[in-house]
Amino acid sequence: METLRLLQTLSDAFGVTGFEDEARETLRTLVQPYADEIRTDVLGNLLVTRRGGSGFTVMLDAHLDEIGLIVNYVDERGFLHFATLGGWDTRILPAQAVMVRTRDGRKVRGVIGSQPPHILKSEERDKPIPLESLFIDVGASSADQAAGLGIRVGDPVVLGHSFEVVREGWVLGKAFDDRAGCAVLVKVLEELAGTTPEATLVMNFAVSEETGLRGARTAAFQIDPQVALAVEATVAADVPGVAPPRQPAGVGKGAAITLADQSSIVSQRMVRALEALAQRHEIRYQLKLPLFGGTDAGAIQTSRAGVLAGVVSIPVRYIHSPVSLMWLDDFEQVVRLVTAFAREAKTLFGQ
Ligand code: CO
Repeated sequence: METLRLLQTLSDAFGVTGFEDEARETLRTLVQPYADEIRTDVLGNLLVTRRGGSGFTVMLDAHLDEIGLIVNYVDERGFLHFATLGGWDTRILPAQAVMVRTRDGRKVRGVIGSQPPHILKSEERDKPIPLESLFIDVGASSADQAAGLGIRVGDPVVLGHSFEVVREGWVLGKAFDDRAGCAVLVKVLEELAGTTPEATLVMNFAVSEETGLRGARTAAFQIDPQVALAVEATVAADVPGVAPPRQPAGVGKGAAITLADQSSIVSQRMVRALEALAQRHEIRYQLKLPLFGGTDAGAIQTSRAGVLAGVVSIPVRYIHSPVSLMWLDDFEQVVRLVTAFAREAKTLFGQ
């Protein structure tokens, strides 16, 4: 599938953490032509097997979920109160357009309301708005009207911008963390079509990464891989006002290889293998600065008796916000590195 259409389809899919079914079904359709086996587990992970020429098993993981909100109270005037799901900077929530997905699958547009600036006292204007005083306004004027729209406590809410090409090579979207990683894995399947890989590949499109790496933990147990790679979108903080030591990764520098983050310290053997692979295939790469962020690799690494697990990421600006920015060349470098890993992991780590 053409890369732009693939990214659009995946980024626009609804998949608030814990409510990943729509994103999962989108992926199921995309991987169907290439998979030997597809199944969904109890938590909702999508496990996709591509059988290879040996029992050596490589797990490739990308998470399906995106950060969002959950309705936790509907007041008598029809305003929705909410809690956050995943790591938001709550200062950026006011005035964002949202979409509530109801239990019967309706999608209701709304906006995160707050008090208008005109009526604020000057000292209030300089302060972030506390989360408790924000609410979602869907234009309902009573709790009954909100119920009539299908809205109930527990409904998930997504924020964000539809996929858009800003200019050639640059794209905007709401969920590149981590649907861009999911897109990488679809591309890897395309690349391997018609070949027999040395190792058996099991791809896990994981649920609930944003709320504690929960899906990857149970998936790794089932897959029981010899080696694993988490494919992520990571923090490109190469923007004004950020000192270089605070920039975990940068746009344009290619595939980001993790050394250590909050969830794992990657084995030196894995880091060296990924670097050597990138050098041999002339793939542009960068080393992501420790110790920012955390990924599914942290949960995979400690599965069973331990798994040799690495992380390769696309540098993306403004992740964990309603709209992030990615340079397609960085995406392509990650596709090439993960494809090379999928092809060569047995040779690299087999003994
Ligand atoms: Co992520």
